[in-house]
Amino acid sequence: MEKKRYIGNTKVSRLGFGAWPLGNTAHGKTMSIEEGVALVEEAVKQGVNFFDTAPNYALGRSEIILGKALKNHRNKVVINSKFGHHPDDSIDFNENRIESSINGSLKRLQTDYLDSVILHNPDYDILMGRTGHFTILERLKEKGIIKGYGVSIDTRGELETVLNNQSVDVIELYFNVFAQVTRDLLDTVKQKGIALIIKVPLDSGWLTGKYTNKSSFSDIRSRWTKEDLNRRYILVNKLKDFLSAEKLTQYAMQFLWSYDAITTVIPGIRTIEQLHEHVSYVNEKLNKDLQKKLETFYDCFIANDPLRW
Ligand SMILES: NC(=O)c1ccc[n+]([C@@H]2O[C@H](COP(=O)([O-])OP(=O)(O)OC[C@H]3O[C@@H](n4cnc5c(N)ncnc54)[C@H](OP(=O)(O)O)[C@@H]3O)[C@@H](O)[C@H]2O)c1
Repeated sequence: MEKKRYIGNTKVSRLGFGAWPLGNTAHGKTMSIEEGVALVEEAVKQGVNFFDTAPNYALGRSEIILGKALKNHRNKVVINSKFGHHPDDSIDFNENRIESSINGSLKRLQTDYLDSVILHNPDYDILMGRTGHFTILERLKEKGIIKGYGVSIDTRGELETVLNNQSVDVIELYFNVFAQVTRDLLDTVKQKGIALIIKVPLDSGWLTGKYTNKSSFSDIRSRWTKEDLNRRYILVNKLKDFLSAEKLTQYAMQFLWSYDAITTVIPGIRTIEQLHEHVSYVNEKLNKDLQKKLETFYDCFIANDPLRW
């Protein structure tokens, strides 16, 4: 699998693993620790070496599963975890908790360093550098406990603030066919030498093409209102017509890989079948026309009224 850019000291695969589903419940089924470990081991076997997790994912079980599955591959894989959302499901960005939170992650992940730690949707005070968060992260980097640090962010304002005020190693950004409001800033991220991780690449599953306005969600996706579901369903059908395709996953992923600024793309992977599907096209040559086409789709049908996550 193609590995172009570094995070920490390791080149990362362009298909990364979004580990939110590990140990979590979706569609009425909870992933067991054993199922999660088997899924991650298969991902490593298929050449995936970048894993994105957080202390609060499945209340700590995502990190525990990764720890069990990756302990024999540690020097070949890149683990990114976060600070701010805790295993008891609380949110607390108090800078005095950074080191202890990272120590908790290290323990669950059965390792003595993290390749990167990112602030998990911090507020503007932190992004502006009015607090001590980045100084503490820099000190932990000097100590070798983390190899790099950065932020996970969603909006254009947040990205501009980070680019103008911080010198980070990593940015994890909400960006996909339906969410391109930061598109013209991607090259600046690259020029600054920042590794760019793309989260929610499938619009939480909509960009596979498999959901309808009748789909129901019991997990974090239950946040969508009837209007959200209807609007996304209309857009998915438009996109199917636009691409003359029923299955959209491959197009949504290829679109992201077509940007040189993007280091790795991390779909949430819940099953071995989903993993194998992503692996089946990961080495295909990228089609630049597809990028233009999907930019036009966004500009015509979404840009004036961006979707909410
Ligand atoms: N604030 C943050 O930092 C933040 C926020 C969100 C996400 N993230 C990170 O980004 C990752 C990805 O985001 P996400 O999981 O929310 O959204 P996503 O990657 O856009 O969508 C994931 C969902 O798409 C479906 N899927 C994935 N691959 C598929 C395939 N090959 N075929 C059919 N369906 C497929 C699965 O849904 P089903 O349930 O239908 O199987 C899966 O749960 C997370 O795992 C997490 O690591 C970070």
